[in-house]
Amino acid sequence: MSLKTTYSAVQIQEFMVSNLAEVLETTPEEIDVNEHLENYGLDSAQAMVIISKLENLLGFKPSPVLLWHYPTIAKLAQRLSEENPGKSSTEESKIVAPFLDLGAEVVLDANIIPMGNNKIDVTNPKNIFLTGGTGYLGAFIIKELLAETQANIYCLVRANNVTEAKSKLEKNLQQYAIWDDKYSQRIIPVVGDLAQPLLGISESEFTELSTNIDTIYHSAALLNYVYPYSALKTANVLGTQEVIRLACQNKIKPLHYVSSVAVFESNAYAGKVVKEQDSFDDWQGIFLGYSQTKWVAEKLVKIAGERGLPITIYRPPLIAGDSKTGICNTHDFINLMIKGCLQMGSFPDVDYMLDMSPVDYVSKAVVYLSKQEKSIGQAFHLQHPQPASLKSLVEWIRTFGFKLEMIPYQQWQDDLINNVTDKENPLYTLKPFLLERWSDEQITIPDLYLQARRPIISCEETLKALQGSSIVCPEIDSQLLLTYTSYLMQTGFLSLV
Ligand SMILES: NC(=O)c1ccc[n+]([C@@H]2O[C@H](COP(=O)([O-])OP(=O)(O)OC[C@H]3O[C@@H](n4cnc5c(N)ncnc54)[C@H](OP(=O)(O)O)[C@@H]3O)[C@@H](O)[C@H]2O)c1
Repeated sequence: MSLKTTYSAVQIQEFMVSNLAEVLETTPEEIDVNEHLENYGLDSAQAMVIISKLENLLGFKPSPVLLWHYPTIAKLAQRLSEENPGKSSTEESKIVAPFLDLGAEVVLDANIIPMGNNKIDVTNPKNIFLTGGTGYLGAFIIKELLAETQANIYCLVRANNVTEAKSKLEKNLQQYAIWDDKYSQRIIPVVGDLAQPLLGISESEFTELSTNIDTIYHSAALLNYVYPYSALKTANVLGTQEVIRLACQNKIKPLHYVSSVAVFESNAYAGKVVKEQDSFDDWQGIFLGYSQTKWVAEKLVKIAGERGLPITIYRPPLIAGDSKTGICNTHDFINLMIKGCLQMGSFPDVDYMLDMSPVDYVSKAVVYLSKQEKSIGQAFHLQHPQPASLKSLVEWIRTFGFKLEMIPYQQWQDDLINNVTDKENPLYTLKPFLLERWSDEQITIPDLYLQARRPIISCEETLKALQGSSIVCPEIDSQLLLTYTSYLMQTGFLSLV
């Protein structure tokens, strides 16, 4: 089948403007066609909605890689209007990503050098700076910091003003059942943006913070699995550089950086055991732009460490719900995948391990470890010590009364392509991500994450460091899964009918 119709750049532009406005719940007049799309802060699901709609309009799937070259609506629309109208509908827009030398991206501003010779007290900080407090893990880190320290917590928040920032933080903490009025005085919003020089904070406020803050937790990042490296670099890589700048300026502040096990996604680590202190120099074969930014950002933090900044790195796997309440981020990949597969009635029969740890384990471990002198200079793996297989999760979901069949991956993929046409199914928006072909082998993301291609993440040293605390990673057993499912059903995210 050929292209449905040939559209002009102006028509595609209008279509994108109206769809972007709809997704962002704003008016088309608010959309600037020359603004970099990344600046609209779309999450993966929102980006998928727009890509899926474009696919419907154009009759072929525009590769997310196009955003690399054409990052604004105006440029993208012009480029898409030039697509060959004879292209088959199943054929994707074949844009080959330019070679990205991630190693060359690892450049930390030479002016960033730890200043001052202040004594560091990791156990009793008075003023903490935290990024990502309006996100999932950040909220739980705030909870732990409130309980385990007496410190005031200065939170970087994207907002128009302090009032809006405060209410954004409060809403997020309420959503995760963390907010308590009595803590209000200790949670201080700082309006800013990771993607701006000096974190979008005025020079005078940046200087003031750099003098008053005792320690920093950097948990913010743009978690978008569709965007290429170029679209995420400003927030995730350059933003980390600005956080390091703050940590080094005027006074030395320990930096606690939330990285990811994704830094070991290069095929060089496939099947190998990787320990906390192992180097992660290989980057070839890290395909997701998000994972690429995490690799570069952690390298920048390492350089800061070599320049004398006290750094500690925390690498979580997928972060699952609270083990006690089941409260979780329902927009995350695993929840959307489960919901979508339940609607399809089938799950792909693939060899995956459930690389996930409950959010309360991750946040408690981060805060406990951050208060130990000997953690400085270390990396920690917050991997689950006894991960379960994905198959066992599916079997368990069935015992709860859900109808879910395990079918061969190819069959599941065909089903996804042909039968998931309802926008209410979360997999509809995830389709481009799940079907995109990557690497020289042209395989899909689910293939790339098969167990055989993954490293074996050891958390032995982390468990040793947690000995003496009461922090234990809850088992992935029927009790935990019951807690999760009950929460998802109570909130209406999942239902038996
Ligand atoms: N979730 C996981 O499964 C997982 C796994 C491994 C590692 N991690 C890492 O854990 C950290 C936290 O993840 P999460 O699940 O909590 O993510 P999340 O819920 O998506 O939260 C991301 C946070 O980053 C903030 N942010 C994004 N761009 C920003 C910008 N330009 N300026 C200021 N703040 C910005 C967001 O603020 P807004 O509210 O303004 O958007 C939000 O507070 C990230 O570093 C992530 O890479 C997460």
